[in-house]
Amino acid sequence: MPQGYDATMAQWHGDPEGYWREAARGIDWSTPPTRIFDAGSGPYGRWFPDARLNICHNAVDRHVAAGRGAQAALIWDSPVTDSRRAITYAALQDQVARLAGALAERGVARADRVILYMPMVPEAVVAMLACARLGAVHSVVFGGFAAAELSARIADAEPKLVIAASCGIEGSRLVKYKPLLDAALDLSPHKPDGCLILQRDAWRCDLTPGRDEDLLQAMEAAAPHPCVDVAATDPLYILYTSGTTGKPKGVLRDTGGYAVALHRSMRLLYGLEAGDVSWTASDVGWVVGHSYIAYGPLLAGCTSVVYEGKPVGTPDAGAFWRVCAEHGVKVLFTAPTALRAIKKEDPEGRLLARHDLSKLEALFLAGERCDPDTVLWAGRLLDRPVIDHWWQTETGWCITGNFRGPGLFPMRPGSGGKPAPGYDVQALDDAGRPAAPGETGTLAIRLPLPPGCAPTLFRNDARFCQAYLDTFPGFYNTGDAGTVDAEGYVWVMSRTDDIINTAGHRLSTGQMEEVLASHRDVAECAVVGVRDALKGQVPLGLVVLKSGVERDEGELQAELVALVRDRIGPVAAFRTARVVPRLPKTRSGKILRATLRKLADGESPAVPPTIDDPMILEEIGAVLGR
Ligand code: COA
Ligand code: AMP
Repeated sequence: MPQGYDATMAQWHGDPEGYWREAARGIDWSTPPTRIFDAGSGPYGRWFPDARLNICHNAVDRHVAAGRGAQAALIWDSPVTDSRRAITYAALQDQVARLAGALAERGVARADRVILYMPMVPEAVVAMLACARLGAVHSVVFGGFAAAELSARIADAEPKLVIAASCGIEGSRLVKYKPLLDAALDLSPHKPDGCLILQRDAWRCDLTPGRDEDLLQAMEAAAPHPCVDVAATDPLYILYTSGTTGKPKGVLRDTGGYAVALHRSMRLLYGLEAGDVSWTASDVGWVVGHSYIAYGPLLAGCTSVVYEGKPVGTPDAGAFWRVCAEHGVKVLFTAPTALRAIKKEDPEGRLLARHDLSKLEALFLAGERCDPDTVLWAGRLLDRPVIDHWWQTETGWCITGNFRGPGLFPMRPGSGGKPAPGYDVQALDDAGRPAAPGETGTLAIRLPLPPGCAPTLFRNDARFCQAYLDTFPGFYNTGDAGTVDAEGYVWVMSRTDDIINTAGHRLSTGQMEEVLASHRDVAECAVVGVRDALKGQVPLGLVVLKSGVERDEGELQAELVALVRDRIGPVAAFRTARVVPRLPKTRSGKILRATLRKLADGESPAVPPTIDDPMILEEIGAVLGR
């Protein structure tokens, strides 16, 4: 690895294929790549088109073969169940091979889909790897989604099997997963052949005869299954994420490109080597969890902490520092929201001072824009680099960041850093021309996207092209707006679509609008993201009632909140709905959402010249108390 960021970027710019050919040496291939990139296949090309491998072999078996069998691969730390458990690479290999065997005995084969609906337990990672071992495609559904969302994913992915847990524990709240799964399966037109259920002590559920089996018993009875050789371009997983409509997008990940990019990123970005302990305090249901709780650390032979708890309340705002100290964490990665929650309860870092953080070298942040105050606060408290890096479900690893491998460049709080090798990031104006340095535009990445990024959407090349490639020919449209400054720092400021970021969770306001509009009393509605000191943004619903309807506002709000919770899930964090007389619209009938957002944030938005009724802004301002 060359010294310094500029030298690293120059190496990639000078010979992009050579750069990835060299990075590919970090992976064990059954058929090593002779071709690095095929521009002719898929919506924008495919990486390592003639290579073959198994990613589970790379994440588990090869480390056992190399003598790391006794090293912890996973450390489960669960304050909510008062449990800790280390799983060595040898034990992980045994568990994964057995679960792969159990899946194969139930008919799961290469390219079949398996839905995982699991909380933060090591079995979630075991299940992902077991699918990968067989060449089957996993799709993890985040536990905070409601049955209807789970059902939509089951209907789209058409899984052969579902692997779920009986329950999860959210702080002090027991979340019963099994009834949600039952409801989702009732709703879904597609029925899987069966379900494997992890029975947790916190709540053991009834198993549906003929459909459900006990996961651990199935594993115990199964014969270990070897790794199945797959093409580098074969899908590894589908991860559904919010799009601009109610129908989630099935972001597809390939196998070889992802393995190469993640393996490379462990040293390049995070500065981690085999044997180091890394902790990503996220959830396996998000891309960050896929890449840096599961695959990335294991591909590099690190120890990965799987944490079932919260930044605060389990039991206090010292929880993160306790975990770092207890397990010797070298790099911590979390969302800014988590830091803001800790800062609120322990601004002076009194709880932090009780723990020995001598092993901790850096803190990485992603998932939402991080306000400079929080970066500076964390930097002061920890006296270590605090590195914001920008990425998306679609990219699988960071687009911009700061790079511990070649050596850090000076940080600028509020910026997501500079592009990672593989990414040519530009701010484009509406006509697709590069914006001047420092001028706001849509952030776009020149094609091809690097290895690790989604090659397409599951069974939907057309939607991939329409959502990401059609706006700016030759570029991938990130949907984020921001600037690239004269020194190459990228500043991500907001979304260009109706996606909002609540507590590091990506949500579609369009989807929430669809739910509100289905209420019998609602004529029309708008949902906008409002600034929130803790969660970054929270959704606010503005509803116009059908003519003649009179409702108690508190009661109506409770019904709308319950509706969103029931259809989308608690993760939507939808808590406020206000009745307004009308919505501001352009003369052609388009709702002026950006104006509404500014109004809700307490700003005084300019009255758009296209507005049909300028007085409405004052009336809505009065309803919102602005
Ligand atoms: N299963 C079930 N429910 C879940 C859930 C899960 N995995 N995750 C969140 N929820 C629920 C919460 O319990 C909460 O329910 P409630 O309305 O009954 O209180 C609701 O979804 C909203 O959750 P959230 O917005 O996360 O708020 P919170 O008050 O529970 O927690 C923080 C606030 C800051 C502690 C929390 O948001 C946090 O840790 N954020 C970090 C996010 C993160 O890691 N993102 C990954 C991207 S890197
Ligand atoms: P997700 O796909 O859930 O990971 O969400 C991706 C979106 O979160 C991005 O498109 C951004 O809008 C936002 N995001 C993620 N990381 C950052 C960051 N470091 N800075 C600013 N926004 C971010």
